[in-house]
Amino acid sequence: MKAIVLAAGRGTRLRPLTNTVPKHLLPVGSKPILFHVLDYIKEAGIRDIGIVVSPDSGPYIQEAIGTGSDWGGQITFILQPQPLGLAHAVKTARDFLGDSPFIMFLGDNLFQEGVTDFLAEFNASKPDASILLKEVSDPRAFGVAELDSSGRVIHMVEKPKQPRSNLAIIGVYLFTAAIHRAIDRTTPSWRGELEITDAIQKFLEMGKEVRSHLLQGWWLDIGSNDGLIEANRVFMDAFISRDINAVLACHSRIEGRVQVGEGTEIENSLIRGPVFIGTGCRVSNSAIEPFTNIGAGTVVEDSSLENSVILENCRILKIRRLADSVIGRNTLVTGNGRSPEQARMFVGDDCEVKLE
Ligand code: G1P
Repeated sequence: MKAIVLAAGRGTRLRPLTNTVPKHLLPVGSKPILFHVLDYIKEAGIRDIGIVVSPDSGPYIQEAIGTGSDWGGQITFILQPQPLGLAHAVKTARDFLGDSPFIMFLGDNLFQEGVTDFLAEFNASKPDASILLKEVSDPRAFGVAELDSSGRVIHMVEKPKQPRSNLAIIGVYLFTAAIHRAIDRTTPSWRGELEITDAIQKFLEMGKEVRSHLLQGWWLDIGSNDGLIEANRVFMDAFISRDINAVLACHSRIEGRVQVGEGTEIENSLIRGPVFIGTGCRVSNSAIEPFTNIGAGTVVEDSSLENSVILENCRILKIRRLADSVIGRNTLVTGNGRSPEQARMFVGDDCEVKLE
């Protein structure tokens, strides 16, 4: 069994952040989204991993992952020259995949329970493919599957206007090598992409057996700013434990599940978990309220933050209250400590924001 992770998407709904950093490297909890996906693969015992990257995302992702030794496997980077769809990404990875069965992950989807059970079911019942599904209230934005009474997939369609079920395809797929023949017979969709959903529908029409596994826990599709904030909220709620490595924490109260990286200094502040603060930060005369994620090297002074994602090396100074916000790297946000009562912003890397 091999694994491929698709990390070539442009992340247009996360602009301006994704103008300078691929969405797969944005943080959720204590690490980038892509690292969580690689953790699922490691946990499932798969060692041969291909990551499909774009010319834009490739260099950043390669630098962040390195040799992949943290995941105990062999990582191969595969270049998809143009974003022509998920099935096109599989085509691009064909040499890497050879005749092996494989699991495919979209590199921006996180979910609660990992893939160990999904994989065990596939290995036991040996269908031609299997997909992970989740019941959602409005499936129109996703691929949608229809099942028969025994749980076999009988129909698949991408973003239907009138969905035949509420079962969304959540971006984890198991395939035997026979899928390549179905992909070869698939033609581009109305959005000009070779859709994996259409390829699986072709696969069904070829008489292949496609099973499914229904996800019970949460699923996070991190496609937008609100999606990133929500993912951090859910993830920190589930996984952040108390682990304080601050070099200095004086005249401060640190309540609940707060994770603080090495070399961080906290002074005269209140931190109420779940909160993640990276390495080498400085927090003084401030309140860091629940669901705030602060990247390494960031300085917060005379400010109050809540439910926000602040990337590395920012300076947040004299902001009375910043909530539900996303701030890119190396950005300076300054205020006068009095107004506005509450600020909300989505700001990219290397910006300067002054609130008066
Ligand atoms: C893609 C898939 C879709 C799936 C979704 C999950 O959609 O095409 O079938 O439901 O990911 O996030 P896209 O993100 O390309 O709109």
